[in-house]
Amino acid sequence: MDRIEIEGGVQLKGNIKISGSKNASLPILAATLLTDEMLKISNVPELADVFSMINLLRSLNADISFSKNNCLVKPKKPKSLNVSYDLVRKMRASFLILGPLLSRYGYAEVSLPGGCAIGTRPVDIHLDGLESMGAKFKIENGYVKGKVEGKLKGAVIKLKKISVGATENLMMAATLAEGTSVLRNAAKEPEIVDLANFLIKMGADIKGFGTNEIVVKGKKKLEGCKFNVMPDRIEAGTFALIVLGCSGNIILENINDDVSDHLIKIFSPLKNLKLEKRQYGKKLYIEKINKKKINVKISTKEYPGFPTDLQAQLTASLIKFAGESEIKENIFENRFMHISELKRMGANLTLKGSKILINGVKEIYGAELMATDLRASSCLIIAGLMAKGKTKINRVYHLDRGYENIEKKLRNCGAKIKRISK
Ligand code: UD1
Repeated sequence: MDRIEIEGGVQLKGNIKISGSKNASLPILAATLLTDEMLKISNVPELADVFSMINLLRSLNADISFSKNNCLVKPKKPKSLNVSYDLVRKMRASFLILGPLLSRYGYAEVSLPGGCAIGTRPVDIHLDGLESMGAKFKIENGYVKGKVEGKLKGAVIKLKKISVGATENLMMAATLAEGTSVLRNAAKEPEIVDLANFLIKMGADIKGFGTNEIVVKGKKKLEGCKFNVMPDRIEAGTFALIVLGCSGNIILENINDDVSDHLIKIFSPLKNLKLEKRQYGKKLYIEKINKKKINVKISTKEYPGFPTDLQAQLTASLIKFAGESEIKENIFENRFMHISELKRMGANLTLKGSKILINGVKEIYGAELMATDLRASSCLIIAGLMAKGKTKINRVYHLDRGYENIEKKLRNCGAKIKRISK
């Protein structure tokens, strides 16, 4: 297993090219099951999660070539509509193939994803929505077995809670259903907008994406297309928080105006961080302003609020500021595994229910740490870069699920970080 070693205390300076979005690429790849024509998808990040989705699609008989961030997918009728536990356990987003398979082939057996380090993460909203469209489900031996008599039927579905994955699954399913579907209380994340734009290029009829009511008129058939995936806003936000924690300045490249505006908005309470759009938002300049104090209260929320996927990184970036800050986690019930690791480095953090209270300390110290999930891993990298001395991070396979070449990108900005492969 690989490990990452960091020598902390360096200010960062340089340019970083932001990769394509993982959370947009995964549903877009799942959506390729809705056609049998060729799809050319570019700006796809080379990440463990993307490889998992590609393996899953290959197990469903798709021909796929993937190199230099370009993915060519030629789906073919699957020989079996069973997706095993082995493929799903590596990544929850595997469940996103359920909607497309039921819509296109009327049958699917997909292993239930189960819990994960950040919480129980049920799939009831996905299943309720598909049931409203006429699917029938049985849960047997850890598998969801879904069946449709004839075709899925368009339906008015009110999601009982805002869910990104359920919105995506239902939107994909609705593209080939008979009649019109209306998804109410839908998630508004930019990755959903990217998926909708991809589906529209495939010939789908979708309106209202990016709002909480999405209307999809079912089509008989979808076709091939070319598509360029949006930049990864969570990766970009992570680099911004690295600057906040470590000082210095960086320019993010390969970003877009919408992602730049979003980051400027979510980071606006952090007065110590300057973000400035360049080239109409295609580049984003980020600088730590030298104020030593911070007192903020930030709560994670669905888009356009502060993303839960940046909560751990934000926690790390604030631990050396004088003052008291509070971060409230509202999306996942147990996304706090990083706290005990940060405390081992000398951070003064208290967990009260779903609130993290941060009391600034002058210094934190390098330690041997364990990554527990994807975003907790990048939080430990931030802490390692901020710490005095050497930090070793184990179990970095979590990191490889969601950050493309992170060590190289950071080294180019002066960070002392290396990967030790065993
Ligand atoms: C997606 C993102 C993940 C992000 C999360 C929230 C991808 C691949 N992953 O995950 O990075 O952290 O959105 O922004 O895009 N819930 C239910 N029942 C369901 C579905 C969800 O109760 O059927 C709950 C979850 O447990 C959670 C909340 O709803 O508390 C939001 O989850 P959801 O938006 O579905 O997250 P994912 O789509 O899994």
